Amino acid sequence: MTLEQLQTIKQAALEALAQAKDEATFRAWENTYLGRKSEFNTLLRGVKELSPEERKVVGSTGNAIKQELIQAAEAAQSRMASSTGQSAADAIDVTLPGTGTGAGHLHPITQIEHEIEDIFTSMGFGVADGPEVESEWYNFDALNFPLDHPARDMQDAFWLADMWGKKKYLPRTHTSSVQVRYMERHKPPFRIIIPGRIFRNEATDASHEHTFHQFECLVVGDDVSVANFKSVAETFFTAFFKRETVVRLRPSFFPFTEPSFEFDVNCLLCDGRGCPVCKNTGWLEIGGAGMVHQHVFEAAGYKRNQYQGFAWGFGLTRLAMMKYKISDIRLLMSGDLRFIRQF
Ligand code: FA5
Repeated sequence: MTLEQLQTIKQAALEALAQAKDEATFRAWENTYLGRKSEFNTLLRGVKELSPEERKVVGSTGNAIKQELIQAAEAAQSRMASSTGQSAADAIDVTLPGTGTGAGHLHPITQIEHEIEDIFTSMGFGVADGPEVESEWYNFDALNFPLDHPARDMQDAFWLADMWGKKKYLPRTHTSSVQVRYMERHKPPFRIIIPGRIFRNEATDASHEHTFHQFECLVVGDDVSVANFKSVAETFFTAFFKRETVVRLRPSFFPFTEPSFEFDVNCLLCDGRGCPVCKNTGWLEIGGAGMVHQHVFEAAGYKRNQYQGFAWGFGLTRLAMMKYKISDIRLLMSGDLRFIRQF
């Protein structure tokens, strides 16, 4: 072994180290120049073969070069760490577009509910609310449904198994259940709407759900008439559908109104000319209405014949279907986000 050989290895090692830009090439360099089986270490081990004088010079030069290479390696390592900071795979490219937070929005039924509330409040109506689990009294008895009258079967109920005292409870079958609750606490004149969720024990199909939304309108005063109902209904539907809408009344029966009506609006799809949706009649069925029965006023604690008023109710869910042209009512409560995200 000669001093030239040591200098040549040192030169090559420093040049190779200058090229080592990442962890992998640096580790390879370490193996080649400082590893146990490296050429440099093999040469150093050969020192013991030299004469005592040569051993002294070559040995101390070899050790000095080794220390020099170790220090150069440490410097190179800290240079690499500070220049990259982290590996390329971990790096964040702040110029890439974001992924978004996926904010939600109101359900279409809630959107329609708010829209209806806005129209009615602009007409001076208040918004009332009531419990979803209701007593038999407010849902049926107070609304003049006789105990044994087939009218109770008009809206098949999910009765709750337990009774509290003598009272039976059920998830309400219509928003009319809030009428007497409200009248017990308020003196006419008043005009309110009552939006809410209701429940019926019935088989479902494209236009029938067991759980859906209705809304009720109740106006009571000294001289409220059917003409007032027709005018309020036409004003509301014209604002809601954003086009001239006409309301038609047909005689019907509800225990809590007398006289009672079914009411229709002119078909929005064919403008009353006749199409498959309105079954060529030019009219679409919307809901039920009538003049509040005096028995209902009495159940609320008012004197018989002291007031008169009208009430009407219809399926808010059906209205949403008409507005958005939804062909199956069951989609609305399906929880399918692909459907909900379209609104
Ligand atoms: C009633 O519920 C009465 N309380 C309405 C009323 C209020 C009449 C005030 C008079 C005075 P009816 O059972 O017809 O009536 O239901 C009213 C509306 O709810 C219907 O016109 C329809 O739009 C909607 N509806 C009824 N059953 C279903 C159902 N299974 N799925 C979806 N909507 C329904």
